[in-house]
Amino acid sequence: MTIAPIAPPTSDALLPVYRRQPVEIASGAGVRLFDADGRAYLDFTSGIAVNALGYGDPGFMDALRAATEAGLVHVSNLYSTAPARALAESLVAKSFAQSVFFCNSGAEANEGAFKFARRWARTTRGDAATEIIALRGSFHGRLFGSLAATDRPAYRAPFRPLAPGITIVERDLAAIEVALSGGTVAAVIAEPVQGEGGVRVLSAEFLRGLRELTRAHGVALIFDEVQCGLGRTGRLFAYEYAGVEPDMMTLAKPLAGGFPMGAVLLASHIAATIQPGDHATTFGGGPFVASVASYVLERLSDEDLLAHVRENGAWLGDQLASLSLRLATVRAVRGVGYLWGIDTTALAGTVVAKALDAGLLLCSAGNHTVRLLPPLVARRDELAEGLAILEDVLA
Ligand SMILES: Cc1ncc(COP(=O)(O)O)c(C=O)c1O
Repeated sequence: MTIAPIAPPTSDALLPVYRRQPVEIASGAGVRLFDADGRAYLDFTSGIAVNALGYGDPGFMDALRAATEAGLVHVSNLYSTAPARALAESLVAKSFAQSVFFCNSGAEANEGAFKFARRWARTTRGDAATEIIALRGSFHGRLFGSLAATDRPAYRAPFRPLAPGITIVERDLAAIEVALSGGTVAAVIAEPVQGEGGVRVLSAEFLRGLRELTRAHGVALIFDEVQCGLGRTGRLFAYEYAGVEPDMMTLAKPLAGGFPMGAVLLASHIAATIQPGDHATTFGGGPFVASVASYVLERLSDEDLLAHVRENGAWLGDQLASLSLRLATVRAVRGVGYLWGIDTTALAGTVVAKALDAGLLLCSAGNHTVRLLPPLVARRDELAEGLAILEDVLA
């Protein structure tokens, strides 16, 4: 069969909601992407924290082929399939959770968690406890519910009124205690490391305080690990560094190696209150994507890979700290593992554009914060290569 070539997309055929960089990516290998002219770019974005294994990983490519062998991509949630069950069992075995709901993105996972929190709170505490609290600096997605939990004024303003029943509170335990004491809150959602909001690592002490407060008030604690989970901090789950277990956790980005997949992990007491029909999605946890995700999860749980991220991530942090002492253009650096933010005097967009010209892909996390998200497989020499380009650009 001959397949007719597809005409290249014209720019006005794509809805202009993205400020795209002036480059068309054509292929990838390892930690590098190549444009249509064959120019190489060292990728410190990982498709915004998705491509943890880099590009063209041989094991991943084999897993893709193996996932098609049964001839199934999708069968609907009218039936169960072995790949979805296996993936859920593996996530449960590796975490605090007792069961898992699969969906297709991070925002969807968070909105699912909001519904599960309300179902649990209504069952255990009655009709009054419905409110969701999110934190200053948060990013939980851009759908109607998740946007209301996202503290980015520019993303929110054009779409007011936002979904009701969701409030942003300061990242301060006293302020959170006041919010919880009214008895109307069902859940608090927090990113253990706030990503889009400027790369802020919430301290272990703060997370422990949050756990104590939510437990004392009978409120569900949801950790959004869509960006910071699955190895990015050098632990499989970011909550591990604080020794604090949430009641629910949301995952997405790297879970299926680039195929859309989100997940809500639920502790047993929440799961026990969920009824058939409470939530659903057509594509969630299909056999192909679940099979690929099982492979990715095994790779990202590998203790050698996690130790590599912890060690090289600490080294990266040291290098960035000394870079900030050398350069007046850097105000601060924050981060952990392979997730770092650099506050710059210049606009982050300007730094990102100059780095692109110099062959390094970066993204921003706010107007004056540049974000580094290398693939988790990036070696120290590859990190050093990116740092050298970054230093030239910032100088
Ligand atoms: C912490 C966090 N939560 C949720 C989301 C939304 O995920 P998605 O874009 O898959 O809806 C993101 C995306 O950047 C994120 O970083």
